[in-house]
Amino acid sequence: KKLAIFASGAGSNAQKIIDYFKNSSTAAVTLILCNKPGAGVLSIAEREGIEHVLIEKAQYKIDGYASFLKEKGIDFVILAGFLWKIPQALIDAYPNRIVNIHPALLPKYGGKGMYGVHVHEAVIKNKEKESGITIHYVDEHYDHGDVIFQAKCTVAPDDTPETLAQKIHQLEHAHFPRVIESLITK
Ligand code: GRF
Repeated sequence: KKLAIFASGAGSNAQKIIDYFKNSSTAAVTLILCNKPGAGVLSIAEREGIEHVLIEKAQYKIDGYASFLKEKGIDFVILAGFLWKIPQALIDAYPNRIVNIHPALLPKYGGKGMYGVHVHEAVIKNKEKESGITIHYVDEHYDHGDVIFQAKCTVAPDDTPETLAQKIHQLEHAHFPRVIESLITK
């Protein structure tokens, strides 16, 4: 199976997914798409020798690069810290084959603008006792599709958005690659 990753940032999730499938016969990351020049995920793609594309907003709004992904024989699409909404054309091209990871326990703390430390600030401000990750299918709304997997961590009274982000990243890295594998081998 050929996996494509859309990412906007550092790419720590992308790196874990790439590594996880390196010794796998079932799948491999063969394409990385990014909307931000200079993002860490592009250096990861360079270093790993994986084809990568800096996507253009105009083209993206038309079909989310669906035709490009099909040309490349992509079977499954992974959003790993990707900040643009997915256009309907891409959802139609990959029904139940686009997954996203969100750094909170959806349906709470989701939606446009709720990403990165903003999520953790909101969780801490609301004195939540726990937070976690949600892996879900992607539909035309932000952070809204069917939930596939959730994992939790505690929120300690002295947690800051940064310390909570660390705990969340650990959960993401521990679970996302394996959950992806469970979906593509179904
Ligand atoms: C992660 O926290 C993920 O949950 C969110 O964006 C962040 C991506 O981090 N969607 P990275 O770029 O994979 O390090």
